Amino acid sequence: MVFVRCEEPPAPAFLGGMWVHPSFRRRGIGRILVERGLEFLRSVGQCQVSLWVTSVHADALSFYRRLGFQETGATASLRPGSPLTITELNLELSRNPQAGIGNEGPAQYKWT
Ligand SMILES: CC(C)(COP(=O)(O)OP(=O)(O)OC[C@H]1O[C@@H](n2cnc3c(N)ncnc32)[C@H](O)[C@@H]1OP(=O)(O)O)[C@@H](O)C(=O)NCCC(=O)NCCS
Repeated sequence: MVFVRCEEPPAPAFLGGMWVHPSFRRRGIGRILVERGLEFLRSVGQCQVSLWVTSVHADALSFYRRLGFQETGATASLRPGSPLTITELNLELSRNPQAGIGNEGPAQYKWT
């Protein structure tokens, strides 16, 4: 599952609730879910999307980096008093349907 929330540009849209059942991971399902979410956001004119990942979740960080998200440098506490931190990642969306997303940087994600 995944959800996206629109915001009034230039504020970034938000992506969260990303989860794939453990039995079905590494089959491209997460990528498809994000792709569909980004497709919707682009269709309604959103310019960028951001999300937060708990910093200890290296797998999730790798996943989002692979899809073209990049750290913004912003971090925060997971919740008041928690020793865990969360890291913000961001992805620029394009209104041009032919443009690739995440073509710059390490991501291999191609927008089709
Ligand atoms: C993160 C998560 C959503 C990925 O879903 P998935 O369906 O397994 O992801 P995909 O198969 O589409 O992976 C796409 C790419 O992301 C990267 N990736 C995915 N899982 C990864 C992992 N565990 N370690 C490193 N890279 C990973 C890979 O590059 C992968 O491409 P490849 O398999 O061709 O190498 C899933 O592992 C999950 O639900 N984790 C627990 C919940 C969670 O951490 N959610 C995010 C919280 S912010």
